[in-house]
Amino acid sequence: MLTSPSFDRTDKLLAWYDRHHRILPWRVTPTEQMRGAKPDPYRVWLSEIMLQQTTVEAVKSYFTAFVERWPDIEAMAKASEDDILRAWAGLGYYSRARNLKKCADLVATQYSGKFPASTAALKELPGIGDYTSAAIAAIAFGEPAAVVDGNVERVISRLFAIDTPLPAAKTQIRALMGDMTPPARPGDFAQAMMDLGATICTPRRPACAICPINEGCKALGEHDPEQFPRKAPKAQKPVRTGAAFIAIADDGSILLRKRKGEGLLAGMTEVPGSGWTARIDGDASIEAAPFPAGWVASGVITHVFTHFELRLSVYSARNIARHTAEDGWWSAPEELGGEALPTVMKKAITAAIPGAFKQQAKRH
Ligand code: ADE
Repeated sequence: MLTSPSFDRTDKLLAWYDRHHRILPWRVTPTEQMRGAKPDPYRVWLSEIMLQQTTVEAVKSYFTAFVERWPDIEAMAKASEDDILRAWAGLGYYSRARNLKKCADLVATQYSGKFPASTAALKELPGIGDYTSAAIAAIAFGEPAAVVDGNVERVISRLFAIDTPLPAAKTQIRALMGDMTPPARPGDFAQAMMDLGATICTPRRPACAICPINEGCKALGEHDPEQFPRKAPKAQKPVRTGAAFIAIADDGSILLRKRKGEGLLAGMTEVPGSGWTARIDGDASIEAAPFPAGWVASGVITHVFTHFELRLSVYSARNIARHTAEDGWWSAPEELGGEALPTVMKKAITAAIPGAFKQQAKRH
């Protein structure tokens, strides 16, 4: 055969995607595109920001709730940052939500509500880096940009049996993805690679027998696709400790406050607590309590952030008179689910009040 292997591969993968693409709420399917439907840059942007560090399964319901409430960039630009943080609560990496709002404001005011159409221009916007600019440019605007997420890294490192471990191999992988990306349907091609990685070329026990591009896959040729991508050993995460205080009023309301500063979880809602320190004698004790009360130990919760693991000692005290608290607000049990509480805070509250979020579990 005289067809080039990469042309052949691209074609086969697109043909597979036409039949087996995942149905996802932000997607315009190949059939819909054939009938003239075009991906909406706003929805592509929103979904790609949400998907940056979060799984497809976790994102689905948040995406649907966001577009119902804020169907376009103007609607989001009119929303308050607090409303967006509340709706984002539970999705993690909250700087994404703050940048979402900044980006919506900028596009609405400086770009007349229209996203710029190139990788280079998109990358100038808040919260949009190499990956997201390439994904939006390819999916929404048809630019043949190399879109490389974790799934694509795995597929390419296997196709070419790349021996360099990640993250050092990223530049090479991006170049190979660039070579493979076709000028027609680059967005579908990127999403086809993602779907292949998510459903067939999986981290464990890949289904190579039914892979549409198994021919010429070097890792399969070496009989060990699971060995790729090679990864540099991960350093152990440092541990930080702290204390969290669940003050409960006689009607069951809980004392909350807004987290200050620019750092982790800034702008989100929290219960009063100590700072989080890496010191071995760090303050995980009752001494960090916001006011004297009958504090009782209610367990220790752990939460893993990107750069450290947090062990939070939880204390609770009941029948607190509302005027005892100098700042913050009291949130009634039925209002808790609508607060901008990150998962770590929900864990701390649940340690003191099991089932505190049960009724609201289906909100999203
Ligand atoms: N992960 C990141 N972007 C995605 C997309 N557009 N489709 C499926 N998975 C994704």
